[in-house]
Parts: sequence; C-alpha cells; structure tokens
Amino acid sequence: MSRDAAGLPGTVELASDPAELAARAAGWVLGYAATVIAEGRRFHIALAGGHTPAALYDVLASAPARKTTDWLRWEFWWGDERACPPDDAGSNYRLAHDRLLRHLPLDRLHIHRMRGESPDLAAAAGDYAAELASHLAAGPGSAPRLDLVLLGLGTNGHTASLFPGQKVLDVTDRWVAPARADYAPFERLTLTLPTLNAAAGIAFIVAGADKGPALREVAAGTAVAARVRPARGELRWFLDTAAATSMGGAPGG
Ligand code: 6PG
Repeated sequence: MSRDAAGLPGTVELASDPAELAARAAGWVLGYAATVIAEGRRFHIALAGGHTPAALYDVLASAPARKTTDWLRWEFWWGDERACPPDDAGSNYRLAHDRLLRHLPLDRLHIHRMRGESPDLAAAAGDYAAELASHLAAGPGSAPRLDLVLLGLGTNGHTASLFPGQKVLDVTDRWVAPARADYAPFERLTLTLPTLNAAAGIAFIVAGADKGPALREVAAGTAVAARVRPARGELRWFLDTAAATSMGGAPGG
C-alpha cells in the first residue's frame, strides 16, 4: 500500500475547504459507482454518519448528479448506526435520508437500514450481517464484500462506531456487532473491522483542524482508524486543508 507524504496509508486527495472536499469526494464516488455498474453489477455503498459527509450527500442529491446517475443500480448500507429510532435527530439513517435518499428515485428495497431502534442490538447485528451476506459475495476473510465504504474520523481516532479500547475491535468472526461509543448515544451498531477490510474500496472524508491529531495517529498506526486497511482494495483519504495542515504537513508537500 502506497504511503502519501503525510504518512497516511493509501491515496490522499486534498481540498481547499469543506465545500471542495464534498465536491471532490462526490465526483470520485460517482466515478467509482459508474465503473462498478459498467461491469454489469449493482453498486453497494456503506454510508458514513456524523456531520462531515452531509455536504457530500448534498452534492450527490443535487444536479447534475441527481439527474445523471443510474440510482436504481445503487444499494445503500450503513457503516454504523446509533441505538435510536430512524427519525431520531442522531440517527445516521436519518442524516442520509434527509440529505440524500429522499431526493433520489430509489427502490425502497435497495435501502438497507441498520435497526438501531431494536431492543436487542445483538439480534439486530446478526440480522444485518445476514442481510449483507445475502446480497454480497464473500470477500477476504469470508466477510461480505461491499463495493465502497465511506468513513469519517473522530478526534480520538475512531471510525464508524469502532472506539478505542472497545472489545468490538478484536472481533474477527462477525461482520456486524453492537458497540459502545465515548459519547451519547453510547449504544451503537457497527460494521466490524473484518467487514470494513473486506471492502473493495474505502474512502475517509475528513475536514477541520480538530482532526489533525487523529490523522497523525493514523499515520503513526496507533489510531483505531489505522486498523482500517482493505485486504484487497483501495484506500483513499479526502482531506481539507485545515485537517491536513493541522496534521503537521500538507500531504504531498
Ligand atoms: C458516527 C460516525 C462517526 C463519525 C466520526 C466523525 O456515527 O458518529 O460513524 O464515526 O464518522 O465521529 O464525525 P464528524 O464527521 O461529525 O466529525
């Protein structure tokens, strides 16, 4: 795996600000999807939660992308979800629904929501893993192989709902698991590292100076997010200048 000058594994794309970051990431995702669809396959993407990806979803939901993309060949999954109802303000599903999905001509069957509202998160995790396995071929480690996973990066180096010191980091034989966050809502569902690392592509979207220390820890291999390394796939980082320079050196410079 190549290392950029910033020391991050994979390929780094730098944008001047969050708006350009969203535009560049959206353009890359659309091109990635078009390549998969051109091969005659459906495009299975796991969406990220948090705040950063909202601007990316807005670009995808706007012209020209909204009108020129073959959405009926996309299927939407999630990298993680909070233990809350889908209409809760903290729901990652609701973020994607409000900023992307409700604007697109989609078959509801192609939206695979994590059941964060379930009173039994272990059962909900098992159901989601079974749903993934029923739609996707097995990838490295026999985990279901998503075409693309979008991820954010927390200031403590977490990603999805994989937080430092949590037992879920050591799961090797399950594709989805209950998890615990450092902040409310504490209870979560998350794709496990085997599932993330079985993906054909992974793209981190990171903006803001507050993410510099976490990026440094990724480059040093000490952050949780440093454990996201696709076994047979592409890893790409989309950073804005604030995040990259706060890391202590703009990538490629
Ligand atoms: C979540 C996300 C989480 C997020 C990071 C970055 O459910 O909160 O999955 O991993 O991506 O915490 O969040 P921001 O984009 O809001 O900085």
